[in-house]
Amino acid sequence: MKVLIINGSPRKDGNTSVALNEMTKIFEEQGIEAEVVQIGNKDVRGCIACGSCATKGKCVFDDVVNELAPKFEEADGLVVASPVYYASANATLIACLDRLFYSTGFDKTMKVGASVVVARRGGLSATYDELNKYFTISGMPVASSQYWNSVHGRLPGEAASDEEGLQTLRVLARNMSFLMKSIALGKEQFGLPEKEEHIFTNFVK
Ligand SMILES: Cc1cc2nc3c(=O)[nH]c(=O)nc-3n(C[C@H](O)[C@H](O)[C@H](O)COP(=O)(O)O)c2cc1C
Repeated sequence: MKVLIINGSPRKDGNTSVALNEMTKIFEEQGIEAEVVQIGNKDVRGCIACGSCATKGKCVFDDVVNELAPKFEEADGLVVASPVYYASANATLIACLDRLFYSTGFDKTMKVGASVVVARRGGLSATYDELNKYFTISGMPVASSQYWNSVHGRLPGEAASDEEGLQTLRVLARNMSFLMKSIALGKEQFGLPEKEEHIFTNFVK
């Protein structure tokens, strides 16, 4: 069982890393392999809506997005984590997720998603909502905790003092592990839910 973790921060040992380390410890205890890929320090451009992924099966820009795609396909769960920039996820992470979700045709149904947000003070729940939308358009159940998955800190490492934030992430990792394991059992017994042909309309027609 595997979970892919995308860290949107550009800071190597920043607060988002502190937050994610708290989760990886739990995944390890739960026997779940966790791979963290930090993309915030990479040059990731936005989607240009060329549509070539529909025929090529991968993004026209051959960068970390195409490296993440097979890891995501293989994973049972996906964690996306971002530092809050102007009450939003950071631009590199959004560019990455737009292209990753749009360019991959594999079935994401019942892969468990969780988002984690880190900020000095404000914009956390808006960013959390923003990130969860990638999961909820993709048939992915969203794992939750006992508070919205947010941690406070400004200078690198400050998040280590946010006891409630870190506890929230430990509980999140346990809940997510339980969901992934339960879904694996459910898939064995019942299979995935029946699919319908996607009706695709442009708002009115
Ligand atoms: C461009 C920029 C915008 C930011 N905007 C916000 C913000 O809207 N709200 C906030 O509380 N902190 C904001 N911050 C602070 C970061 O969210 C905070 O330092 C966080 O701990 C960074 O995480 P990291 O160490 O993992 O990179 C901003 C920082 C930067 C660089």
